[in-house]
Amino acid sequence: MEKLVIEGGKRLAGKIRISGSKNASLPVLIASIMADTDVVLENVPRLKDIRTTLQLLTLLGCQADFDKDNVVISPGNLTPEAPYDLVRTMRASVLCLGPLLARLGKAKVALPGGCAIGSRPVDQHLRALEKMGASFELDSGYIVGWCNRLRGAHINFDLTTVGGTENLLMAACLAQGETILENAAREPEISDLAGFLNACGARISGQGTSVIRIQGVESLKGCRYRVMSDRIEAGTYMAAAAITGGNLILTNYPQDTLDSVIAKFLEMGVHIWEDAEGVNVENGEPLRGVDVVTLPYPGFPTDMQAQIMALMCIAEGTGTIRETIFENRFMHVLELNRMGARIRLSGQNAVIRGGADLVGAPVMASDLRASAGLVLAGLKARRRTEVLRIYHLDRGYEAMEKKLQAVGARISREKE
Ligand code: UD1
Repeated sequence: MEKLVIEGGKRLAGKIRISGSKNASLPVLIASIMADTDVVLENVPRLKDIRTTLQLLTLLGCQADFDKDNVVISPGNLTPEAPYDLVRTMRASVLCLGPLLARLGKAKVALPGGCAIGSRPVDQHLRALEKMGASFELDSGYIVGWCNRLRGAHINFDLTTVGGTENLLMAACLAQGETILENAAREPEISDLAGFLNACGARISGQGTSVIRIQGVESLKGCRYRVMSDRIEAGTYMAAAAITGGNLILTNYPQDTLDSVIAKFLEMGVHIWEDAEGVNVENGEPLRGVDVVTLPYPGFPTDMQAQIMALMCIAEGTGTIRETIFENRFMHVLELNRMGARIRLSGQNAVIRGGADLVGAPVMASDLRASAGLVLAGLKARRRTEVLRIYHLDRGYEAMEKKLQAVGARISREKE
């Protein structure tokens, strides 16, 4: 296993190019199995989760791999099974349920288990697909689904689910008649998926709002598509500039997708402005603690919660965070406290007393974004921080230590 070793206290300055979005690439890659001809995707990041998805597509019968900077997916004879060995390493594999049912009328997908940030059920995906005519049973840990051609349906999600919206959006493209998704998730990654599907010949409207309409079509053809850039990676490097008192310019930036995050950073006292090159982030004044509630888009993203918490540790005054999306998503708190942070937890609420003098320590990453929060704290802390279990980071941040080294951080990857 590998760890990141950080000698903190260096001010970051320079340019960072934001990579393609992991959370947009995953559903777009999986949706590609519905196309009858080749799909070429640009701006897909080279990450562990992407390699897992390419492996999944290959197991499902497609040819899928990087060709220089692009990913090419060529259709083949589809098989309906997503095995447990893959699904347990990446929950998003469950997104192939809708496309397989739409394409083959059958699917056998391992039921994802719990994960470090909570139980994360898929009941909404199944209930909605049932409304479209699918039947399901659980067999030896697998969701086995079957249907004739899926029928358009009026679906009202009980709660806002990103994955559920994506699964249904894909399935509905090849269904007979119109599907209406109400209380749909509004995340930019969903609009990106809809943009891709429309480029393949789907008829989707309303993406980006809570009501999405899909007119089913007979088939989809391949296309060339550029996936959006990663808004959470961009938000994380904004926090890196702020926590080190630095000055970063972020290029290949996903415009208009980070408003709620930028609003909180501005409230904390971070300077952020756009120019022709990208987004500039500069921290010139003492930061102030703020109150944050994580919410579905356009609210503050749960995937930026650990990072803004790291920032609040060193801000002046007290800040609060209420996590409303996932249970058990405060695993980084005890690790931050081991570095000198003063955070108290009460259920889904965290109170962060600012002004901490962070000191490096060995810390254990528990999930992807928690790891990012610990790296940020390490960049600020005096002395040496070791972030263990960085396979989490490798799932979602492309070449993080190289990008940070290039702007002045003392950070390296070593064997644990
Ligand atoms: C996606 C993102 C993840 C992000 C999350 C919330 C990907 C690959 N992952 O995850 O990074 O943190 O959105 O923005 O894009 N729920 C149910 N039943 C369901 C589905 C969800 O109860 O059938 C619950 C979940 O347990 C969770 C909440 O709904 O508490 C939101 O989950 P969801 O939006 O589905 O997240 P993911 O798609 O798994």
